[in-house]
Amino acid sequence: MKDNKLKRYNIYIEGEWINAYNGETIEVHNPATGEVLGYVPNGGEAETKEAITAAEKALKEWRELPANVRSGYLKKAFHIMMEQQNELAEIITLEQGKPLNEAVGEVQYAAGFLEWYAEECKRVYGETIPAWSPNKRMIVIKQPVGVVAAITPWNFPAAMITRKMAPALAAGCTVVLKPATQTPLTAIKLFEIFETAGIPKGVINLVTGSAKAIGKTLMEDERVRKLTFTGSTEVGKKLMEQSAKTVKNLSLELGGHAPLIVFDDADIDKAIEGTIASKLRNCGQTCIASNRFYVHEKVKEQFIKKLKDKLKNYKVGNGMETGVEIGPLIDGNSFEKVKEHIKDALDKGATLEFGGKAHHSGINHKGGYFIQPTLLSNITNQMLITKEETFGPIIPVITFETEEEVIKMANDTNYGLAAYFFTESLSRAVKVAEKLEFGIIGINDGKVSSPQAPFGGYKESGIGREGGHYGIEGFLETKYISMKI
Ligand code: SIN
Repeated sequence: MKDNKLKRYNIYIEGEWINAYNGETIEVHNPATGEVLGYVPNGGEAETKEAITAAEKALKEWRELPANVRSGYLKKAFHIMMEQQNELAEIITLEQGKPLNEAVGEVQYAAGFLEWYAEECKRVYGETIPAWSPNKRMIVIKQPVGVVAAITPWNFPAAMITRKMAPALAAGCTVVLKPATQTPLTAIKLFEIFETAGIPKGVINLVTGSAKAIGKTLMEDERVRKLTFTGSTEVGKKLMEQSAKTVKNLSLELGGHAPLIVFDDADIDKAIEGTIASKLRNCGQTCIASNRFYVHEKVKEQFIKKLKDKLKNYKVGNGMETGVEIGPLIDGNSFEKVKEHIKDALDKGATLEFGGKAHHSGINHKGGYFIQPTLLSNITNQMLITKEETFGPIIPVITFETEEEVIKMANDTNYGLAAYFFTESLSRAVKVAEKLEFGIIGINDGKVSSPQAPFGGYKESGIGREGGHYGIEGFLETKYISMKI
């Protein structure tokens, strides 16, 4: 039964806020309580096709605009977003669960992409190539790839949208966005901001609803020239298959299984700070979360003792409450997976050093899935937790003795997104960073994301890079012009 007092939101196609054509809606839940926050349209194939048509129509003018004009729209959106940061952060906490101060941090991070690409779009340079013949001239120009499909996840409902849309718009592309089903309200608020910034009709379009139907329609439509996706490796592979028929340009930011290594020459306090920063952000629900903790035999006792002392102070709860530093997991499936990883490790001989408690307090199994930060030692390679991405606040400690051994273990995965290590030796820092097969390396640093840096992974963690000048390249075609004079 629908609660008529709750707001019904709309999708945004060609500058109009509309319902799904069949009038169907989807509930949006608060993951801390299970309460319904509102209803969004359950769009599908028809709405998606309409959005693609709008984006294709708008492309002709948008891509012709001088770069400084496109820059102006992005700058304006950046300023409005910063003015409304608290309002936006509240929406993020309500529908995604992260503590309010973390949500404010996400809004600033997200706005940073608008600011960065407002500048970067003025620097999309071409090239002239010295020809081998006196009567030839060779020129390379960059042009927008065209209509972009952006599919974004729930864990960073604002930042993953701007990380994709800001470079796409800067490059001169138009966009159809499908936000995560769990977190559409942040996307809607962002589109209100883009609308206020005056971004012309059809340049940006938003369709909420069935991920399957929207995704398939976007992938099969030949007018969509690019897919930019953040999500699981499993879904990324499916989208790749679907996009093969129309040979789309792809940027995929997929799963991770980050190792964090503490060498015997590490500053243990830095290692603890890095562990907390890389693991507890967003309740461990980030693709770059450290997931396997390799600690040298000689410093294991010290690391575990210091970490336990820190973890004791963390308050788990509803992110809207003051003092809460760890919010809920997004849903029941995540809750079961995290609990299974803990149980499997304990059944196979791990030691519970801290935490381990999980409780459910939500309504109708729609939220309220809380888990204590958990520290486990005596972990072996037979345990699930060393093989799969956990997406929860669990710290499994594995010991090692040699640099060679730990690099081998760290690289022994199909994922290659992020890796962290702690050492005070400069030459070790350089050597290990070069040997790790990951796209992002944190040396004595657990907080690596930034709008101006390339984000992306090796192996099955994805294709392409987002952020910085690398991020705009994925939205540009390279055209070579040969001239005989
Ligand atoms: C992600 O989890 O995919 C993004 C994390 C980040 O941007 O820091």
